[in-house]
Amino acid sequence: MSDAIVPLAGVVGTSVGHSRSPRLHRHWLVQQGLAGDYVPLHVGDDDLPQVIRTLPKMGFVGVNVTIPHKVAVMRIADQISDRAILIGAANMLTFRDDGSVYADNTDGHGFLANLRDHAPDWSAQDGPAVVLGAGGAARAIVSALLDAGVPEIHVVNRTRPKAEALRAEFGSRIRVSDWVKAGNLLEDAALVVNSTSLGMAGASEFRVPLDGLQAGTVVADLVYTPLETQLLRTARAAGCIPVDGLGMLIHQAVPAFERWFGTRPTIDEATRAAIFP
Ligand code: ATR
Repeated sequence: MSDAIVPLAGVVGTSVGHSRSPRLHRHWLVQQGLAGDYVPLHVGDDDLPQVIRTLPKMGFVGVNVTIPHKVAVMRIADQISDRAILIGAANMLTFRDDGSVYADNTDGHGFLANLRDHAPDWSAQDGPAVVLGAGGAARAIVSALLDAGVPEIHVVNRTRPKAEALRAEFGSRIRVSDWVKAGNLLEDAALVVNSTSLGMAGASEFRVPLDGLQAGTVVADLVYTPLETQLLRTARAAGCIPVDGLGMLIHQAVPAFERWFGTRPTIDEATRAAIFP
């Protein structure tokens, strides 16, 4: 029997029990004919540094990072990519052979790649974007949208100072409004993005008034459980172009899988079916 080390990866967070990432990476491992596994790792704040330092000793080649650790892992990593520094958050760690921890962020790439798949006619020049939320995912999206050339991004967040921080870091193309005024911004938006956990199964309902949505506006929800959220259902009924969160999950995972397991996986219908059988 071979005693070769089986490469392991996983997702580190506090509510990873319903994560679809294990199914996705396991599907690709089979697709690529590779040995390995991907597991959910429930890790609290206090244990995070020690767990991250221990995982490489157990055969882990890397992990995804999710709520609420995307910012905290930046203090643990030995090296950080330029884009993760710019974003101020990381969604993936790679454990190098010399034992060092490398942090990167592929959320922005995942978001834009998914947008191009589902709203191919959207262009950054179409007009302002509205981003609901100002957490780690919002930072990656704001950074990607600015890079793409979006002229103006309205950021609204329940905790306003976190939105103000984005403006301080990313500059004057960011506009900050109160959370309660989010509904008023929709009318002029070319793109609306929900990066909060509102509408996710088990979380609070999405209650932002949506009457202002105009036909043709692209509406993206990062929530993918359920796949069609109430926001996307309302958007579809209003003639908007709905973009679900599953594609972003898949696209952000491609560069991670490639770095950890050494081959670039293929996205096809079987990929989506593997996640939501
Ligand atoms: P992620 O890394 O996925 O972005 P996060 O950094 O924990 O996760 O951010 C979660 C986002 O959802 C935040 O913008 C959060 O708002 P606060 O900054 O005010 O916490 C938002 N969010 C979570 N629950 C919410 C709720 N009940 N109402 C409004 N916003 C909520």
